[in-house]
Amino acid sequence: MNRETTRIPPEAIARQREFCEKIAERSAARSTQPLAFVDTYGCQQNEADSERLRGYLDAMGYAFTSQEAQADVIVINTCAIREHAEQRVLGNVGALVHTKRQKPGQIICVCGCMAQEPHVAEKIKQSYRQVDLVFGPHALWRFPELLYRLLTRRGRVFDLADEPGSIAEGIPLVRQRGVKAWVSIMYGCNNFCSYCIVPYVRGRERSRRPEAVLAEIRELAEAGYKDITLLGQNVNSYGKDLDDGADFAGLLQAAGEIPGDFLLRFMTSHPKDASQRLFETMAACPKAAPHFHLPFQSGSTRVLEAMNRRYTRERYLEQVAALRALIPDIVLTSDVIVGFPGETAAEFEETLQLVEQVRFDALFTFLFSPRVGTPAASLPDPMPKEEKAANFQRLVALQDKISEERHAAYLGKTLRCLVDGSDEKGLTARTPGNRLVRLTGGPELIGQFRELTITGSNKWSLTGTLA
Ligand code: SAH
Ligand code: SF4
Ligand code: F3S
Repeated sequence: MNRETTRIPPEAIARQREFCEKIAERSAARSTQPLAFVDTYGCQQNEADSERLRGYLDAMGYAFTSQEAQADVIVINTCAIREHAEQRVLGNVGALVHTKRQKPGQIICVCGCMAQEPHVAEKIKQSYRQVDLVFGPHALWRFPELLYRLLTRRGRVFDLADEPGSIAEGIPLVRQRGVKAWVSIMYGCNNFCSYCIVPYVRGRERSRRPEAVLAEIRELAEAGYKDITLLGQNVNSYGKDLDDGADFAGLLQAAGEIPGDFLLRFMTSHPKDASQRLFETMAACPKAAPHFHLPFQSGSTRVLEAMNRRYTRERYLEQVAALRALIPDIVLTSDVIVGFPGETAAEFEETLQLVEQVRFDALFTFLFSPRVGTPAASLPDPMPKEEKAANFQRLVALQDKISEERHAAYLGKTLRCLVDGSDEKGLTARTPGNRLVRLTGGPELIGQFRELTITGSNKWSLTGTLA
């Protein structure tokens, strides 16, 4: 495999900034500031990408709106992980015909993982004529140039080159999450789990240089960010493509030595690569939040093999035991797929048993969704839909009971929580393990670490008061 990652030269990003300036001149010439609406689907990587899209749009002189009808530019950053996600996006893009009719000249862009799927791009080309610009994750760094081309010439623009992927440093960012921040440490995925579209749309695994990652974290810490999440599809392969021996445990340790009052989190870990060394580094790093998201996908070793996950049920359970031995109060969350093609009733029972045994704090449960071009999409799938749905409900009910019990165990405890925002029910905070705490209080608390005593709980969240 070619381990050389294409690094976009700084001159190329400088050129993109020139396109931003040219568009900004056009924006400044208008009587009112133009507005952009960025809609994001999917995972944290996509949210992080949307912060870059907003960074570019900001540099182009756009302000932001949350109303499609007002926007001069609409950017829809899509997700391809499951059928349901794709249907939602296409439904919303379809509805934009009307918005555009009301606001002639409105520009509609579709980007992200769905756009990188050839059959989806074709469908947009043929059946969604209101869409002006389509580009995949590989082309995100050249968004200003694409938009400029659209603004200055006639016709629609498609940039869907399939490539192994590149790394671009220096794209401007408009962060979206108050005192919490994403830091992408790597892009792409090499694992090819047999059900998953991500490696096809996000390209090969490639790591940012540790100096660049650490410099970004240092900047965030100095700016007062309190909760920093290192992002990658499989952070445990970080550095494998670099020539300086960097690895994820080393990166986490170095990040933990950066001065400042902040917590470090990371997502996602693959059980085949999560190492004892990483667990020990976490245990020894006071800034590493006591939370581990370790997707298991299935409790059956036979199904795991068919999923190409490359670990067994036993290996997974050993890792959980190793992690809990080192960090007893670790909050453990996971992902699981119900109804993988060929999963039998007995194999599903093994998933239930694993959930019963591990007692996760929270679980993200997904019904298998066939993705075009992945090996699992063409496997025989004899289990009726109704049976899969019933299994799904049983699993959700089991986890609800466990989540409720695990949350009840917090009652009376006092924890240092980050007050991170508010919603219609009041203030929200996060425990070190990232469990949601609701509390009442003034907005001045937002952005602060505060000691909270837990006074209530249910299956979704905790309630706390200032200690
Ligand atoms: N890189 C991460 C996961 C990214 S996708 C990891 O390996 O853990 C998030 C979750 O979506 C996966 O963990 C999996 O549970 C689920 N998922 C992915 N593809 C799916 C599919 N085709 N059908 C149903 N769920 C899927
Ligand atoms: Fe998909 Fe597997 Fe890669 Fe995760 S590790 S993104 S599930 S292929
Ligand atoms: Fe979806 Fe792409 Fe993330 S497919 S889950 S947005 S990597």
